[in-house]
Amino acid sequence: MNLPGSPFLSRDAGELCLDGHRLRDLATRFGTPLYVYSRRAMLAALAPYQRALAGRPHLVCYAVKANSNLAVLQTFAQAGCGFDIVSGGELARVLAAGGEASKVVFSGVGKTRDEMRQAIAAGVRCFNVESTAELEVLSEVAAGMGQRARVSLRVNPDVDAGTHPYISTGLKGNKFGVAHEQALATYRRAASLPGIEVVGIDCHIGSQITEVAPYLDALDRVLDLVEAIEAAGITLHHMDLGGGLGITYTDETPPGADTLIAALLAKIDARGHGHREVLFEPGRSLVGNAGVLLTEVMYLKPGEHKQFCIVDAAMNDLMRPALYEAYMGIVNTHERTEPGETWDVVGPVCESGDWLGRDRQLAVQPGDVLAVLSAGAYGMTMASNYNTRGRAAEVMVDGERVVLVREREKAADLFKLEKLVD
Ligand code: LLP
Repeated sequence: MNLPGSPFLSRDAGELCLDGHRLRDLATRFGTPLYVYSRRAMLAALAPYQRALAGRPHLVCYAVKANSNLAVLQTFAQAGCGFDIVSGGELARVLAAGGEASKVVFSGVGKTRDEMRQAIAAGVRCFNVESTAELEVLSEVAAGMGQRARVSLRVNPDVDAGTHPYISTGLKGNKFGVAHEQALATYRRAASLPGIEVVGIDCHIGSQITEVAPYLDALDRVLDLVEAIEAAGITLHHMDLGGGLGITYTDETPPGADTLIAALLAKIDARGHGHREVLFEPGRSLVGNAGVLLTEVMYLKPGEHKQFCIVDAAMNDLMRPALYEAYMGIVNTHERTEPGETWDVVGPVCESGDWLGRDRQLAVQPGDVLAVLSAGAYGMTMASNYNTRGRAAEVMVDGERVVLVREREKAADLFKLEKLVD
């Protein structure tokens, strides 16, 4: 059987295991829906980044939005990573997990003044600023605190990352970054502001990118700017090349992180920038294939046109299929020998968009536990309480250990902040 993505998934006497732990047993022990992550798989995904960057100044800033569970953040903090955050909430999580503010880069087009103050007070390494308007406000906020905010401008290189339109960010029509043509003028403005200290340049062209070429195109454009900006007398210490490396959900063949980084470093060196510190902001490629979502089959509903396999996880638990029509692998944790049939795997939420997989060949019975694969990234972080469904529990396996790293939400948790009127 084909298990895409992770060498940490295996079959033991027909039972699907993550890093040696039988997933059906974990479902029995902790209930479903259940996210299960392998700590060793996360560290194994980080290793090629670290290997490829060894021997030169660098920082891998894990993109918190991909999976923000404290235990996940702790894992990367202990491995020496920095963090790419996009909100004050994410900063609070990083600090709660033992991450260092001095290794945090703060991205996003809409940072509030409160978030800016919180991040300056915590001592974040740098703000990735996305517009002139934001730059002016940040300068004002920092100066008001008697400080200068360290800044790297996110430039929009106008390259096509060749990915889903919702997760492509480096094109002119996207809301992200400062347009390439305006970058130099914006750097000049930044250098003149009292509350700003320019430290770097940043670019992120999209997510689930499966080719090296768009990265190299973007890098060329960024290096052109670096040269122009430094010629104007503004020093840039680091280059942040963003995240975005894709993973295998089904038959994609993205380059390994080591291959991608080697290609980027070769260009950086060839153009004479080898001395510069490089930052990366990977999210999905570090955690995506380190996690699965377990869900129990409740009812089978055969029909003339469609057969529905109704499971206890829904679009509120895992939104990627509903939002992007994303394909996620689905397998039975208990391998059945009878021939499979074609099923739409759907959840209990009252929307036709509530599906996890369509036209899947599966041999299933009620009570079986299905595993949605590659669910470690943008699964739990995008979960909601729609239909007043408590969010799933999360478990991390770490060698022999199995740790419940987030309890299942109960109904009372969901309305505890609400009030009746008198
Ligand atoms: N840096 C910035 C500035 C970003 O906006 C992102 C992702 C990353 C880094 C990390 O990108 P990654 O390495 O994970 O591709 N919810 C979507 C993905 C949205 C990505 C948003 N930005 C999905 O489920 O496919």
